[in-house]
Amino acid sequence: MRLTLLAVLLPATIVIGSQLRCPASRRIKPCTCETVNASTGLVLVSCSNIRSWALVKHALRPFRRRKVYQIARLTIERIANRTSDTRTLQRMFRWLTIGELIIRNAPFGAATKIPRSIFKNTTVFALTIDGCGIKEIPANAFTDVQHLQELLLPNNEINHISHKFASAENGLLKIDLSRNNLSSIPQELLRKSSRLEALYLRGNRIVTVDEDDLSNCKSLLILDLSINFIEHIHPDAFSGLSRLDFLSLAFNPLDEGDSEPLRKLTNNCQLKTVDVSGTRVQLKNLISAKLTTLVAQQHDAINQTEICCLAGATKLTHLDLVGSQLNITTIRNCGATFPSVKQLDISRTETNITVIRHFPNVEKIYAYRM
Ligand SMILES: *[C@@H]1O[C@H](CO)[C@@H](O)[C@H](O)[C@H]1NC(C)=O
Ligand SMILES: *[C@@H]1O[C@H](CO)[C@@H](O)[C@H](O)[C@H]1NC(C)=O
Ligand SMILES: *[C@@H]1O[C@H](CO)[C@@H](O)[C@H](O)[C@H]1NC(C)=O
Ligand SMILES: *[C@@H]1O[C@H](CO)[C@@H](O)[C@H](O)[C@H]1NC(C)=O
Ligand SMILES: *[C@@H]1O[C@H](CO)[C@@H](O)[C@H](O)[C@H]1NC(C)=O
Ligand SMILES: *[C@@H]1O[C@H](CO)[C@@H](O)[C@H](O)[C@H]1NC(C)=O
Ligand SMILES: *[C@@H]1O[C@H](CO)[C@@H](O)[C@H](O)[C@H]1NC(C)=O
Repeated sequence: MRLTLLAVLLPATIVIGSQLRCPASRRIKPCTCETVNASTGLVLVSCSNIRSWALVKHALRPFRRRKVYQIARLTIERIANRTSDTRTLQRMFRWLTIGELIIRNAPFGAATKIPRSIFKNTTVFALTIDGCGIKEIPANAFTDVQHLQELLLPNNEINHISHKFASAENGLLKIDLSRNNLSSIPQELLRKSSRLEALYLRGNRIVTVDEDDLSNCKSLLILDLSINFIEHIHPDAFSGLSRLDFLSLAFNPLDEGDSEPLRKLTNNCQLKTVDVSGTRVQLKNLISAKLTTLVAQQHDAINQTEICCLAGATKLTHLDLVGSQLNITTIRNCGATFPSVKQLDISRTETNITVIRHFPNVEKIYAYRM
């Protein structure tokens, strides 16, 4: 599916009158190539378990004929960390047109920044640099990448993004900085990303969400802030996110007092899925007419009032309360039924299957003890 999408994104330069297949395998050793569509020169290229970046650079040479080959996906994995000098890395991806570039477990020698001029005259739609020991994003890291829409940098150690990053508006739709070392929302990156639709910041060290942190992200549909140390969210921090559809705040030390920003959010947005697992935020502030999925695993502050409130979420189809502080009396005494719920998970709670009578239309119910 993804491939089809990228094939559409890439400019269809038809190689007139001829077929363009992968170069002979000896020319691109130790990488490998697979032809996807010979009339457009669309190929898949993979380089893994390679001794050095110098060999990768050499193997990519036959693809550098400008605007001829279109690499739907280029995967570079497990390059041995032989200290690569900066000259080798320079222009590594020059004159390549790539749908999806994935660099994984391939450290850039001793460099802990995205190396300068690794991209020159490079077209990439989705860039992944995963587990490469990056600590810092310099100001001009991606200015030579054209058409960049997805910037995915998970599993690094990023804790510094140049405050001069991207002086011009960029066209990023998706940013993933999951499992890095950020201590705050990366404003430097977001300031010029007004088209951004998905932001993943799971597993960092973020402690607060301030009023302006997300104020430029008016197009955001997905926001994942799970597994951080967020103790405080400014009441208006989410106010501008009127298109938000998915929000995860799971596993942050948030308590009842942090429910105000959520109340404001649910009042005026499209929010359909919320995950507040491992927090103590009040569920009643999440209830909106549009909510379809509520995940509140290991939630320690669910009480009867809260459960009864869920009856107001008339579109709620998925309810996941695994391991939460919930017992059979709480549901029974509420009296209400939850006719919209189709899938219910009450595993590891003090309830049992008898609660089913309160969920008359449920199709799947999970109630594991362990
Ligand atoms: C190859 O690409 C051309 C141009 O986009 C398209 O017309 C043709 O159907 C594709 N062929 C295959 C086998 O997908
Ligand atoms: C790569 O090797 C260099 C030199 O030995 C070292 O300084 C650097 O930390 C290594 N990088 C990674 C990500 O392992
Ligand atoms: C390569 O990119 C530079 C800017 O990074 C630009 O000035 C130059 O025109 C580009 N060259 C080609 C051949 O596209
Ligand atoms: C994360 O950043 C802090 C400084 O903010 C630093 O002390 C720590 O060593 C970093 N951790 C890693 C894994 O790089
Ligand atoms: C239940 O939770 C609500 C917040 O949703 C709170 O206002 C109320 O005091 C709680 N009730 C009890 C009995 O703890
Ligand atoms: C059920 O949970 C409530 C708190 O939510 C508690 O007050 C009550 O004693 C519990 N009932 C049983 C039978 O455990
Ligand atoms: C479910 O729990 C209730 C209250 O604790 C108990 O009376 C009932 O026997 C249990 N039913 C089953 C099927 O475990």
